[in-house]
Amino acid sequence: MRTHYCADIQEEHIAQEVTVAGWVMSRRDHGGVIFIDLRDNDEIVQLVCDPADDVASHKKAEEVRDQFVLIATGIVRARGEGLENPNLKTGKIEIVVKSLTIENRSLTMPFELDDERVNEEIKLKYRYLDLRSNKAHKIFKLRSKATIAARNSLDKQGFLEVETPILTKSTPEGARDYVVPSRVHSGEFYALPQSPQLFKQLLMVAGFDRYFQVAKCFRDEDLRADRQPEFTQIDVEMSFCQQEDVIAIAEKLLYDIFSECGFNVPSTFKRITYTEAMERYGSDKPDMRYDLAMVDMIDIFARCDNEIFANISKDLKKNRIKALKVPNGDNIFSKRQMKGFEDYVRSFGAQGLGYFQMKENGLKGPLTKFFSQNDLDAIIARCELQIGDVVFFGAGEKKLVWDYMGRFRIFLANEMKIIPKDKFEFLWVVDFPMFEVEEGQTKALHHPFTMPRLDADGSIANKDDIEEIGSIAYDIVLNGYEIGGGSIRIHKEEIQKEVFKLLNINDEKATEKFGFLLDALKFGAPPHGGFALGLDRLIMIMSGTSSIRDVIAFPKTQRAQCLLTAAPSDIDESQLDELSLRIRKTNR
Ligand code: AMO
Repeated sequence: MRTHYCADIQEEHIAQEVTVAGWVMSRRDHGGVIFIDLRDNDEIVQLVCDPADDVASHKKAEEVRDQFVLIATGIVRARGEGLENPNLKTGKIEIVVKSLTIENRSLTMPFELDDERVNEEIKLKYRYLDLRSNKAHKIFKLRSKATIAARNSLDKQGFLEVETPILTKSTPEGARDYVVPSRVHSGEFYALPQSPQLFKQLLMVAGFDRYFQVAKCFRDEDLRADRQPEFTQIDVEMSFCQQEDVIAIAEKLLYDIFSECGFNVPSTFKRITYTEAMERYGSDKPDMRYDLAMVDMIDIFARCDNEIFANISKDLKKNRIKALKVPNGDNIFSKRQMKGFEDYVRSFGAQGLGYFQMKENGLKGPLTKFFSQNDLDAIIARCELQIGDVVFFGAGEKKLVWDYMGRFRIFLANEMKIIPKDKFEFLWVVDFPMFEVEEGQTKALHHPFTMPRLDADGSIANKDDIEEIGSIAYDIVLNGYEIGGGSIRIHKEEIQKEVFKLLNINDEKATEKFGFLLDALKFGAPPHGGFALGLDRLIMIMSGTSSIRDVIAFPKTQRAQCLLTAAPSDIDESQLDELSLRIRKTNR
């Protein structure tokens, strides 16, 4: 219906006839002459409807309102002196309309496009209107470009795109499953995949060597700003590889995606171990755009006269005392702010937050009286304190201290405004423990198919202390978000069975849930490994937005609802009957 997209009309088209089609962004009546900003998928062009040029189209233009759909034919001309708009690609020209069709009308918009203050619920209910905004168009162009770049990069590196089922059996990735009742097999359910993990491993057994998929994953878990119940992974697996090979593929893939989208990023990324990440930054996904690392103080505090610290210092394995130094903190923060910091860490379970201030005549603060001069000097030396610096302390059980001091680090960085906005800091976190024990329950830190560290004789190393068992697993972190993760997998049945046992999954249960995998491992499974990138998170960071909902065309709310279609919703009695289901209402 059109001869040109708005963006393509330039000065070289002056005096030519063009036809454009799109939505009215604004209409201004300037004493007889009507100006219309018409936008198609990408750019705005100015239409001029002057009764002196064409009476009929001017008459129609009087009816036009925002968001009407128009098709306009006219002659391109240069804008008058001083009337150019440098913010538009088409800012030097306008179209003098000869023929105007109102293709469709629009109700008054429920909100202004591109208005950041509008309530999100209204935007989600009318998501198709929200998606008309410039911001949304930019994001979805980036998403499309990045996805195509990923496909091309992996294709070039010899990966085969294979689709795996959506109606399947549970693949544990640590969340609850979404389930689908079977009509044919009454009382039985499919699970939607939390990831294609097991199928991609089976493709390796099938000899596919290098697989990838842009895969939809489904997880019923508590939602956050960077989580959706339905999201997309760029899922990758390869055979006969070691950790280094997988890391090289992931780095090349990310480099290609970012470069194609016009961003400058390094071709290899920094690495730290899981233990280092927790000890220095209190998180397995530290934001490396700023330093603010924690320092270990437990040996110095062990010598102080304070009973609480002395007690904590007795158990070096279980407990930690960590310091966070704020350079020039004395001048940056008020007393009231410092009190607020304590409230902040208390809300994450801290008993309190100690601090010292480095003054001209030495360390000051409520705790100094418990330390000898030698130890105060040791604190100054360990934390490399300069006059004006403030140093905060957290003490207690190590996981608790890591957690609240890690959060406090981010909190401080925000307060100090030291987080650069336009920077991409990638980081590999490697050498994850295989298991974690929470409330007496052993869980796999990545998933149960990850290869544990083995002794020379091929048995699992450090088996006596479950939390000391290592794994060949790695995460990719970008600006403090986990954007991907992976591992080398178990390809031997005996090790897989042993890991199931350590997870308290007995043989019977293992066979019932993962019998197909254990069977496949008996038929010549090659060594293999891989990773998955969270595409939505990646696009969220690349586009500089802080909500994953902005980068998903039709996202769900924090309560896992689609406000546009009103899903989830009741189904008819007849459907329930067909599925042999009966609803038991609860108050949830
Ligand atoms: P993992 O569970 O770490 O690994 O998932 C990989 C990446 O997917 C993204 N992600 C999410 N994004 C949005 N919403 C969610 N609810 C969500 N959950 C995860 C994250 C994460 O890093 N099968 C393994 C990969 C492998 O071992 O190869 C897996 O799924 O960015």
